[in-house]
Amino acid sequence: MRLMLYIICATVFIVCSSWADDMLLPTALAGNGDIVYIANENGKSVFVYDLGTRIVSARVSLPSAPTGLALSGQTLYVTGGLPSGVLYTIDTASMKITATTALPSGACAPRVVGTTLVVCNRYAGSLSFIDIATGKERKRISVGREPVATAVSGGVLYVAQHLPDMPANAASVHSVITTVDIERGVVTGTIALPNGSTALRDITAAPDGSIIAVHNVARFDLPTTQIERGWMNTAALTVLKPGAANTYATVMLDDPESGAANPYAVALSPSGKTIFVAHAGTHEVSIIDRGRMTAKLEAMNRTALSYDLTFMRGIRQRIALGVNGPRSILVTKRGVITAGYFSDALALIGNINSTPSVNILPLRDTVTLTDSRRGEMYFNDAKLCLQNWQSCSSCHPDGRVDALNWDLMNDGMGNPKNARSLLNSFRRSPVMSHGIRASADVAVRSGIRFILFTVQPEPVAEAMDAYLKAMESDPSPYLVNGKLSAKALRGKTLFESPGVGCTACHTGPLFTDLKLHDVGTMGPYDSEGTFVTPTFIELWRTAPYFHDGRYSTVKEVITVGNKEGKRGKTAQLTPAEIDDLVEYLLSL
Ligand code: HEC
Ligand code: HEC
Repeated sequence: MRLMLYIICATVFIVCSSWADDMLLPTALAGNGDIVYIANENGKSVFVYDLGTRIVSARVSLPSAPTGLALSGQTLYVTGGLPSGVLYTIDTASMKITATTALPSGACAPRVVGTTLVVCNRYAGSLSFIDIATGKERKRISVGREPVATAVSGGVLYVAQHLPDMPANAASVHSVITTVDIERGVVTGTIALPNGSTALRDITAAPDGSIIAVHNVARFDLPTTQIERGWMNTAALTVLKPGAANTYATVMLDDPESGAANPYAVALSPSGKTIFVAHAGTHEVSIIDRGRMTAKLEAMNRTALSYDLTFMRGIRQRIALGVNGPRSILVTKRGVITAGYFSDALALIGNINSTPSVNILPLRDTVTLTDSRRGEMYFNDAKLCLQNWQSCSSCHPDGRVDALNWDLMNDGMGNPKNARSLLNSFRRSPVMSHGIRASADVAVRSGIRFILFTVQPEPVAEAMDAYLKAMESDPSPYLVNGKLSAKALRGKTLFESPGVGCTACHTGPLFTDLKLHDVGTMGPYDSEGTFVTPTFIELWRTAPYFHDGRYSTVKEVITVGNKEGKRGKTAQLTPAEIDDLVEYLLSL
């Protein structure tokens, strides 16, 4: 009987895996009583789920993929990030879109703050302040690299910024939390997370004004020879006190022999007594007793980053969800809800205060994963890693970069390299800075073996190949209506001119001849000076630059970084021409 079932399941699985990708990919939640609104990224829709009847009671299709939700009375705000930023205003009574407002690239994480809706424009690096009464954007401010979430405490907006924005060989490399005076709409400061903090995903405020954020802490300065005891990537929770210019404490969410990888969302119970963290890499939710955590924090030495992997012992429960890839958290009267991104299902955790139990609430009858979607799931799955410390996405968030230098073993020890985007990696053989791997499929298999420290059946690697092959580039935030600006067009002419000479190496559709060159960029730790010409597709999101991430801007690469003129001739260009050239490169 069991064998029969297995054969039927396996057959269904094989048949299904060739179907088109119709996954919903639920990514954000908002709620009001028993009604839960679910943003489906791939489904380009919002579902209305009734917790009482446990059915999807309504749905609305959107022109583009939703990134975030916010409720204000009868109105549901839905952000979309790409191909360009947008805000959809939905009347919850009719579930009809009543207004569509254009926003900068990467719009996400809408938050109602009084009479204003604040939106993070992740790729444009700005915040939009939208007047709720008129629906008009009344102010826009720059905050820096990849704002992805906000929290409000004492008239201050705390903005979580996903990736570090400094050179990767700086004394400290870390994501920041930017503070904004809400009343005046101006940036008042930045709070640095500890060295190695990256992939900052979420932030929330407690009733007492404290701020809590979740992110990775990478020990990128150690050689990647082992992974036990948080040697490479750890999952962290940072606490800020209201008004303070520095973090209060950062603690590990992992256990000594079991990582809690890829913390993606954080929320609090209404009383503020319990913290919930969704771990997208290990498919768990942590339930943390905040009172006991605070007592523990007060008693400990908080001046140094604590790598104590036993910190959570006795104050937290780890709940296995049974859905894959939770990226959101919603606290409701019936329990805590998260959505499995790769499961198209909600998980409802009940009995929080005694023995928590999980109910899985499917959003559809059958879930069918294409090969590439299954590969994306594996890529984000820390369960594939020895002791669950990290997934491929820990260093390649969204398949791109974590902005850190890592000392991988494939090219010897002691010569760290900046993480590379995997976009088009299958069209860019050889791969790695030195071209050490003949092609991306070799890199995938060695990544599983030497970075995740595991052995996986070949179909796992093949699915990852399929995912990487299917990755598509996102349009640059520097484009104007999807086209090169006048400035970028001037830069294009310079770029292509023989006198500047970039196309001698940066040629073809990916702007690389795929050859190794010694262009005078050998650093103090390198054992050899030849590097594969890098691609420029999505250069706007792959900072810092060069194999060792020594420059955080493209401008530095072509000015101070090209003094000897070994990579084209740039010394004769006027400052305006340099700006034009930079604008072009960032538009690709
Ligand atoms: C600990 C961080 C880390 C993890 C985890 C990681 N990588 Fe990487 N990856 C890197 C770094 C750093 C580079 C660039 C190395 C270089 O340039 O020599 C890289 C490069 C690559 C490349 C080559 C890209 C190119 O265009 O040159 C591929 C493909 C790749 N990784 C796939 C994976 C896969 C698949 C996984 C999971 C099995 C994974 N990586 C996990 C850090 C990591
Ligand atoms: C002789 C070949 C060659 C020429 C000509 C050349 N480049 Fe490059 N370029 C490279 C190589 C190789 C690297 C990688 C160096 C490293 O990682 O240390 C690079 C790196 C870069 C980077 C950093 C990309 C990244 O992702 O880190 C930029 C930007 C860049 N070049 C722009 C230009 C521009 C603009 C020109 C023309 C003015 C130019 N290059 C001319 C070979 C060349």
